[in-house]
Amino acid sequence: MSHQAAMIVDRDFVIGRVDDRLFGSFIEHLGRAVYGGIYEPGHPTADERGFRRDVLELVKALRVPIIRYPGGNFVSGYDWRDGIGPKEERKRRLELAWRTIETNQFGMNEFVDWCREAGSQVMWAVNLGTQGIDEARAAVEYANHPSGTYWSDLRVKHGYSKPHNIKVWCLGNEMDGPWQIGHKTAEEYGRLACETAKAMKWVDPSIELVACGSSGAGMPTFGEWEATVLDHTYEHVDYLSLHTYYGNPDNDTPLFLARSLQMDEFIRTVAAICDYIKAKKRSKKTIYLSFDEWNVWFHSHEQDKKLEPWQIAPPQLEDIYTMEDALVVGCMLITLLKHADRVKIACLAQLVNVIAPIMTENGGKAWAQTIYYPFLHASLHGRGNVLVPLIRSPKYDTKEVTDVPYLEAVAVHNEEAGEVTVFAVNRDLEKPLPLSVDLRGFGSCRVIEHLVLEHDDLKAVNDAQNPDRVRPHARSGAKADGSRLEAVLGKASWNVIRVKTGV
Ligand code: AHR
Repeated sequence: MSHQAAMIVDRDFVIGRVDDRLFGSFIEHLGRAVYGGIYEPGHPTADERGFRRDVLELVKALRVPIIRYPGGNFVSGYDWRDGIGPKEERKRRLELAWRTIETNQFGMNEFVDWCREAGSQVMWAVNLGTQGIDEARAAVEYANHPSGTYWSDLRVKHGYSKPHNIKVWCLGNEMDGPWQIGHKTAEEYGRLACETAKAMKWVDPSIELVACGSSGAGMPTFGEWEATVLDHTYEHVDYLSLHTYYGNPDNDTPLFLARSLQMDEFIRTVAAICDYIKAKKRSKKTIYLSFDEWNVWFHSHEQDKKLEPWQIAPPQLEDIYTMEDALVVGCMLITLLKHADRVKIACLAQLVNVIAPIMTENGGKAWAQTIYYPFLHASLHGRGNVLVPLIRSPKYDTKEVTDVPYLEAVAVHNEEAGEVTVFAVNRDLEKPLPLSVDLRGFGSCRVIEHLVLEHDDLKAVNDAQNPDRVRPHARSGAKADGSRLEAVLGKASWNVIRVKTGV
């Protein structure tokens, strides 16, 4: 096959409408995500509540519709009641998941306020490690009940007369993982999640619940865990969670870039398990997927092993992302878009400082990492109907994944704007890839812009001194002739080609 790729999309062949929450993210009480990240009283840009405005500006630009909080592993030892009420009365606690000290100066109400500023909804995780039904139903009552009961009146007393109306709640975090405080078997977790879900929905029937799937497809219990948990919870929950992180520890970049094919397989498998339980229960209900942790994570592993325990907000999980990491994140975003019919929520883990697109210095600057850009582009231009992509591409093999197409791509039709956006990664590290896209049913088209993220050095990073070393630029040359789009994708590049339709 010659070294070029082709894609056919048709305006009527729709996979599904993108749920805005596909571009969600995650803030955990971990490292400098909260303290020194989104919240730093005394920082030159901090407002009267201690919210860093420089960080908020970077977050707002991403248009993140929903943010999961407060963990992560952290939540399995967290008492949410420690984080409410007068700050001077809040307790300091030993935090066992990440072996730090939690000051509780930031909690539910501060996060709700911060999310309002960021233009995001809160996705709250309850502790099903060391806590259970009672604390979870109290959290819903505190957050969402109007007033006239102990917990809702306490919220009013804390200065919030209106309910927070937190809509999406996670029933614990990664409860299949032996590292989790209060780790459970699938039977134990399934029963607890079911009874907790019932009580939470009795307090507020309008909420949606996410049950924990496996913490990764590589877990020995993967598959059986999902089936057992859904057997217990099917009629009481709305979503099942998936988590995945990829890395390149052996510097095998072609394999690293192929990892998104495993993500694709993971999503298909979990959807199939959900449908198996649906069939078994003769249910009319479909369980949707919440891919509520996904990213690249490996750069910081060694450094984190050396950290002294029991510090307050030490630098943890501070991966500094390279150009090639941005390509993997781009491939993962395309994969999520291709499953828009089933994945309704996804959270890039995480948002600030901790395996994050945004980095800060305590007391200093804030800047965008390489992975910020594919996320930004997908969030801004990836809303609408995802079209079935028929792709012809040359392929390559790696030692773990074979038949890897050099082209990873998807197209999203934004009907209101009269635009189609093609997101494409060229996985070829050596050669550019000419791409021809047949935009069937769109009439005559015009290229609005072709944005590219690329760098000669795949290990190039952004840092406080050089925050713009890797940043997108416009590329000329993409053309539309009628409904045929022609473009060249540079070697190892992330591409966003926006097209005006019906011109
Ligand atoms: O995002 C970092 C950690 O990864 C989370 O706390 C946990 O849920 C996962 O293992």
